[in-house]
Amino acid sequence: MTEQTPRRKRPEDLRSARWFGPADLRSFGHRSRAMQMGYAPEEWQGRPVIAILNTWSDLQPCHAHFKTRVEDVKRGILMAGGFPVELPALSLSETYLKPTSMLYRNMLAMDAEELLRAHPIDGVVLMGGCDKTTPALLLAATSMNLPAIYVPAGPMLRGNWHGKVLGSGSDSWKYWDELRAGKITEKDWGGVEAGIARSYGTCMTMGTASTMTAIAEAVGMVLPGGSSMLAADAGHIRLASESGRRIVDAVWEDLTPSRIQTHDAYENAIAVAMAMGCSTNAIIHLIAMAKRAGQDIGLKDFERYSRKVPVIGNVRPSGDKYLMEDFFYAGGILALMNSMKEHLHLDCLTINGRTLGENIEGAEVYNDDVIRPLTNPIYGEGSLAVLTGNLAPDGCVIKPAAMDQKFLKHSGPALVFDDYPSLKRAVDDESWEITADHVLVLRNAGPQGGPGMPEWGMLPMPKKLLKEGHRDMLRLSDARMSGTSYGACVLHVAPESFVGGPLALIKTGDIISIDVEARSIRVEISDDEMAARKAAWHPPEPRYERGYGYMFSKHIQQANEGCDFDFLRTDFGAPIKEPSI
Ligand code: FES
Ligand code: MG
Repeated sequence: MTEQTPRRKRPEDLRSARWFGPADLRSFGHRSRAMQMGYAPEEWQGRPVIAILNTWSDLQPCHAHFKTRVEDVKRGILMAGGFPVELPALSLSETYLKPTSMLYRNMLAMDAEELLRAHPIDGVVLMGGCDKTTPALLLAATSMNLPAIYVPAGPMLRGNWHGKVLGSGSDSWKYWDELRAGKITEKDWGGVEAGIARSYGTCMTMGTASTMTAIAEAVGMVLPGGSSMLAADAGHIRLASESGRRIVDAVWEDLTPSRIQTHDAYENAIAVAMAMGCSTNAIIHLIAMAKRAGQDIGLKDFERYSRKVPVIGNVRPSGDKYLMEDFFYAGGILALMNSMKEHLHLDCLTINGRTLGENIEGAEVYNDDVIRPLTNPIYGEGSLAVLTGNLAPDGCVIKPAAMDQKFLKHSGPALVFDDYPSLKRAVDDESWEITADHVLVLRNAGPQGGPGMPEWGMLPMPKKLLKEGHRDMLRLSDARMSGTSYGACVLHVAPESFVGGPLALIKTGDIISIDVEARSIRVEISDDEMAARKAAWHPPEPRYERGYGYMFSKHIQQANEGCDFDFLRTDFGAPIKEPSI
């Protein structure tokens, strides 16, 4: 490590001392109001004030245990001599928030950043896990740059129905297609519904939640092994209190996110994401996070790592049968990272004050079918590929590890839909003239068009093709897809159609060609024809004329830039000053 270790903080150096210390009228108010809540001065004086940003709500099943888990975090903070304060933050439930939780990722990021800035806080424990919560909380902590530790909610238990293991998301899609194909009954479907989510915790496939918590750990913001700890395991309670203990020391050591989140740390995060067979959403969130940390990370870096890091985490949907519970028993993230350590920068500092290399040393794999050696991967190249071409000048993404390999190179006529309801009507029409060679296209589903870039990208398979026995076809959109989804789905087409990207200009019958090996995607029309169609294009009506959505439309960036608001980028404008007190 080249970095100089800063000297330990003294109590008078604490940020909160500005609120509680001075012998003036304002501080009198802060102290007397703390006493109003029953806290004696001995309980806060000279102690780090630790915020616990808790994203619990009654409509957030993945974080249901946070209502009480927060007490374990507090216990740890108290033990280590800190003063814990719980600050409820916006709760983003992937399941219930409409039109999509992605619309609100940046709202939570703003909420969390300003909660930290405006209050007398010295360090923070971030409690999240369900998809967008992880990036949102980390975006905030990174911009605020106070010592921060992330406590992931942990994966839920495996699903179970009639003795069959069920995986979040993936088996919903699978059995839904079986129901539509007439292969299972309504009663069976009811059994799947009751058995697929059996405990609190996040989706237990390698969806966005497990991907993003692994990334949070790889980048150095989670205690070792914390991202694979199951929500319902007693170890999760201990993780919570240990995180509470650790953050107090991290404040004294001034171990800020900027000391942890180096360019190398982000490369580690990308390498681990690839090895895990990550959700496509990882790309958007990681780019946004890296930019907040001032690191130049973009699609090119994903492509670079995709070419060299194979998928060794055999967890669905890239893997064929295992789930996060199996991954945990097989040794979890530490074992995975140790198995691929030649692709990692081992000298990166992490939140426990040790290096990544020290954290993973000796971590063993207990089941080498779940965590494969690099020499026996489940997919030889990385799980994601970035394609470019005249249809996506700023790139788009496909997940070769989770699709029918015959579509890796494919040409077919486009069937273009401008909105999701008309696409849905068409796919349910069994008289529709469609073959498995056609390319289904949905537009107006990007960051502005969606709005919020909903997870519609796994466009539903046409009923007619399902009944003929097909389970995959080439699909294309500017939407995202759930990390638990699978199929030959080209996503994140940038620029999006709503702002006039080439996707807005294609027509039903145009031939679309992809070649994943060559990383290319094209619509087979001439540049002149494309220019003529562009000249005739009219921008659609804005999605919002007031409220948060209006601000969102004005400031959201495209997928290849991470979908952050332009004004939230850490380097946007002059740094924000500390509040006057
Ligand atoms: Fe919360 Fe999947 S719905 S992690
Ligand atoms: Mg998801």
